[in-house]
Amino acid sequence: MTPDSSFHLLAVIGAGNMGSGIAQKMATEGFRVLLVDVDDEKAARGRKIIEQTLADGVQRKIFRPDAAGAILSRVMPTSRFEDLGAADLVVEAVFEDFDLKKRVFSRLDEVCKPGAILGTNTSSYSVTELAAATRWPERVIGLHYFYHPAKNRLVEVVGGKASDPAVLRRAWRLQEALGKTPIASSDAYGFIVNRFFLPWLTEAIRILDEGVAGTATIDEAAKKAFGIGMGPFELMNVTGVPIALHAATTLGGAFGPLYAAPALLRSQVESGEPWPIDGTVDTGLFTLIGDRLATAVFYVAAALVDEGVGTIDDTDIGARVGLRWRRGPFELMNAYGLERALDLVQSFTTQWQLPVPRVLEEQARSSRPFTFTVVRTDVANSIATLTINRPDKLNAINGDVIAALEEAFSQAVANPAVTGIVIAGAGKAFIAGADIRFFVKNIESGEIDRIAVFTERAQNLLRSFETCPKPVIARVHGMALGGGVELALACHRIIATPKATFAFPETGIGIYPGLGGTQRTTRRVGKGLAKWLVLTGETISATDAAAIGLIDAVVPYEELDAAIAAAVAAGPVVDREAGRMPASHQAIAEYFDRSDIAALREPGETTHDDPRIAKAATRIGAKAPIAVRIAADLIDQGLDLPLADGLRLELSHLREIFSTKDAYEGLSSLGKKPPVFTGT
Ligand code: COA
Repeated sequence: MTPDSSFHLLAVIGAGNMGSGIAQKMATEGFRVLLVDVDDEKAARGRKIIEQTLADGVQRKIFRPDAAGAILSRVMPTSRFEDLGAADLVVEAVFEDFDLKKRVFSRLDEVCKPGAILGTNTSSYSVTELAAATRWPERVIGLHYFYHPAKNRLVEVVGGKASDPAVLRRAWRLQEALGKTPIASSDAYGFIVNRFFLPWLTEAIRILDEGVAGTATIDEAAKKAFGIGMGPFELMNVTGVPIALHAATTLGGAFGPLYAAPALLRSQVESGEPWPIDGTVDTGLFTLIGDRLATAVFYVAAALVDEGVGTIDDTDIGARVGLRWRRGPFELMNAYGLERALDLVQSFTTQWQLPVPRVLEEQARSSRPFTFTVVRTDVANSIATLTINRPDKLNAINGDVIAALEEAFSQAVANPAVTGIVIAGAGKAFIAGADIRFFVKNIESGEIDRIAVFTERAQNLLRSFETCPKPVIARVHGMALGGGVELALACHRIIATPKATFAFPETGIGIYPGLGGTQRTTRRVGKGLAKWLVLTGETISATDAAAIGLIDAVVPYEELDAAIAAAVAAGPVVDREAGRMPASHQAIAEYFDRSDIAALREPGETTHDDPRIAKAATRIGAKAPIAVRIAADLIDQGLDLPLADGLRLELSHLREIFSTKDAYEGLSSLGKKPPVFTGT
């Protein structure tokens, strides 16, 4: 069965770098995919590109050789268009030539089956106009991927005038099943991201052309201002200077001189050379350059939101996920202060004879910064889905998320039209735990109390899920870590896809689970397995999680809605039966069902006859000793208490744990180096 059982076969037309990358991602996520080009040789070349990228991934230990082989075996190169008759979704990724794309779409009309979704990866043409080349424009949509599509998670999902909303929804969900981060754009030239990215490039070229600074200075200034690895000139050299000219020609034609290609860009393309990017760097010009680049982006981002091309949230997510900017345009405007951002934009619009965007003017007048939707609410079929919307931070829970969840949850509870509430995460993860940066910042500033207040508030929210008279379901697709598992455990039911994984990494970063992880886990799987999970940080698959009763069900992505609807119909769970113990986990459960956890750290245990126990002992040996001890005690003591008392007990050690050296060591080392715990 494919990860999404309504999509049996996918296809990509155009086996160049972009097309083969899209096909690679589809195959990586378990789908069979046709890679189509005009002749067998070109199609085979596309497969070769994938093979090389995978080999590179094997060398960098991202894939095991057998996994890379399995991915490649799912890619089927062909030059026979008729093969597309079996495809459920086709992505056109041929060269950016309108007539060529139109010809492809009219061929698709002849060969594709009636329900097939036809997507175009165009970056500069209108989806509506391309759709007009087919007999079924309602099934044509834009799916705009970013280079490299197997690595860059962003995809713009674009509805043309005639696109059927149901088709858009299916395609959106397929992107989620592929682990992508979709954002919704209307069918306007350049969609969301290229619309502001191109003027960012052309403003850099104008700064050069005016003799304000050289390419090296501009690149370095841009890197600093936007928190990126490559400046505009180096980036154009890598992606191809003619591509920038092509985009400027299309967008300039659609939106006027601000977007048009500067003469210098034209002459650079004519020279056939990349931009010369060596030279001395004048740091004294950084602020000026940063402000100019930011101003162009501020104007365009606000204008595109005014026009309804995209939302404030999607514009910022597009910048962060697609371009890897540290901050999106609206967050950056907040950082500038909206009054100052408006000042800069006003001079800019005067210079270009453009209107000042309303969204910026009104927000600046309100004297409040732009706010972001960190929790999205969608109500369908009387079920409210609350989606945590920080995909680029793997939906890590911070104070904003808690506040937004509180509000969205109480609205859903109060809404008589809502019969069930679902908690979900946007993008590839469910929730990667509590926000580590918040912890580190507060330890550094000596404000551990703030961590305690945050944790208590989050615990109260989770308690309100549990005691809610309406059924509350966790919809877990992707990783659930630490606070993510704890949030799910407070829901009445946990329904996951095969891509979900579960783990408690806390003791490995010097702390213990503080959102009920030492209490609710025990009540779900029993003391032995709770200790095994919490103390070792072992990652378990959705299938294993269901087998031990940590979660309620694993269903293919496409069946999630039906499974959730059934869970809502079944109502809230009041009294949960503890642990179904499968034979596979009996030994480990028995082994961990003891209180002398210190003994587990004995050297002898790491060579225990049972390999799973030996592994567990090795893992515990690498954890922070104080965190392990407190977590084990909490599990032991909490089981005999009413849940509410157990939760209070868990809170009572927070200040102690966050004051340890090991907590700071573990939290601040994350992603940088392995922590060295001293037991202090
Ligand atoms: N808190 C804050 N930020 C987090 C986070 C968390 N719990 N988990 C992930 N992120 C952020 C990362 O810092 C990164 O941000 P950046 O792009 O600004 O650097 C972003 O999310 C993407 O994460 P990344 O590490 O690049 O993704 P990955 O798929 O390679 O790795 C993890 C994912 C989960 C292995 C790794 O992010 C991790 O270990 N996170 C912490 C998990 C944890 O310990 N949770 C328990 C907290 S109580």
